[in-house]
Amino acid sequence: MTLASLSAARILLIIGGGVAAYKALDLIRRLRERGASVRVIMTQAAKHFIAPLSAAALSGQKVYDDLFSLTDEAEMGHIELSREADLLVVAPATADLIARMAHGLAHDMATTALLATDKRALIAPAMNLRMWLHPATQRNVALLEKDGVLFVGPMDGEMACGEFGPGRMAEPLEIVAAVEAALTKPTVIPLPAGARGKAAGRSGVLSGRRVLVTSGPTYEAIDPVRFLANRSSGRQGHAIAEAAREAGAAVTLVSGPVAIADPLDIETVHVESARDMLKAVEKALPADIFIAAAAVADWRIAEPGAAKLKKGRGKPPALELVENPDILATIAAAAGKRPRLVVGFAAETENLLANARAKLAAKKADLIVANDVGAASGVFGGKANLVHLVSKDGVESWPSMDKREVAARLISRLAMMLGADS
Ligand code: C5P
Repeated sequence: MTLASLSAARILLIIGGGVAAYKALDLIRRLRERGASVRVIMTQAAKHFIAPLSAAALSGQKVYDDLFSLTDEAEMGHIELSREADLLVVAPATADLIARMAHGLAHDMATTALLATDKRALIAPAMNLRMWLHPATQRNVALLEKDGVLFVGPMDGEMACGEFGPGRMAEPLEIVAAVEAALTKPTVIPLPAGARGKAAGRSGVLSGRRVLVTSGPTYEAIDPVRFLANRSSGRQGHAIAEAAREAGAAVTLVSGPVAIADPLDIETVHVESARDMLKAVEKALPADIFIAAAAVADWRIAEPGAAKLKKGRGKPPALELVENPDILATIAAAAGKRPRLVVGFAAETENLLANARAKLAAKKADLIVANDVGAASGVFGGKANLVHLVSKDGVESWPSMDKREVAARLISRLAMMLGADS
């Protein structure tokens, strides 16, 4: 994904142990002022220079500092930390941290987060100038540049140690400018060919194809703090995106707000409302296959409050609803741009198959994957799914299976349909 601005960006800031760590606190403020959310990891050494509490207060979030803390792992594993970010920023990046990054060491939370991701990193070195100019550091910097790591600074200037030259960390606003520039590039660094080992194009049945997937719920604003939403976890849609990628496709995933991480190596666009989801989907066309797995809100509030609605003013507010655009139907009817295969989901609590057939016709889809989302089924938010494939050729029912298995089977079915069609 690329982000045009900082306003929706999720930054993972890794603070290394150097005198310049105090500037990282101002950096948090500057990034947040511009609308970014900032999660912080501090190295053990960084804690000698600044207090985790200051970073927590400024970021408004818990600060992570210990790889082996079980509470941290239960709340958010170290892998999720870097996978959910759009950009990793290391400031200050000490000679030691740079060396560990360059060689893929991962013995603490900071270096593990840096290794366990495919997201781009931007680093702001800060060290004594002899350390910076040392061939070992320069060698490490060259390695990181080759890996696609971006640098801001170091700047020339007087350092805490009294020497003058390159080594001073860039100022917070210089780093902010570098973050903005970095966000205009794709946030995911593609893995080198073959790096995915066995998984790389496992079947290859979709290699050379473009697959576009929507996933998760949408949020429809009631006022600046409240919204209408649903219980979709995004698990099924994300699993489909992953299965398509494993089959060799180039995948774009347009996701509503979910608690699960972006799939590795997949361009993921984050949206909130149905209207934004439609815009993102239209922007991501053309595609060979469009799979609408998102649980899009059918309605939105006609006029969301500009300010928080207050109680105690007589009657409760009447929330007038208007219909949202139907993304699936719009894309299925897109003249000249219609993907060869358009697939929808029908999440129903009653009359499952009849509703799915009606949807197939009304939305002009090629296939509807129908599933029972009544409370008893445990499908919404759960890990298993029981689906029926409804097409013009009839209904095919699959036994209950893991959502990843549903995804893999669906993708091979779609590859067959695409093959038969071409
Ligand atoms: O009409 P219903 O919401 O049950 O249709 C479900 C299917 O239509 C799903 O594939 C969903 O992703 C898609 N849909 C959509 N845009 C909407 C509503 C549903 O793409 N506004």
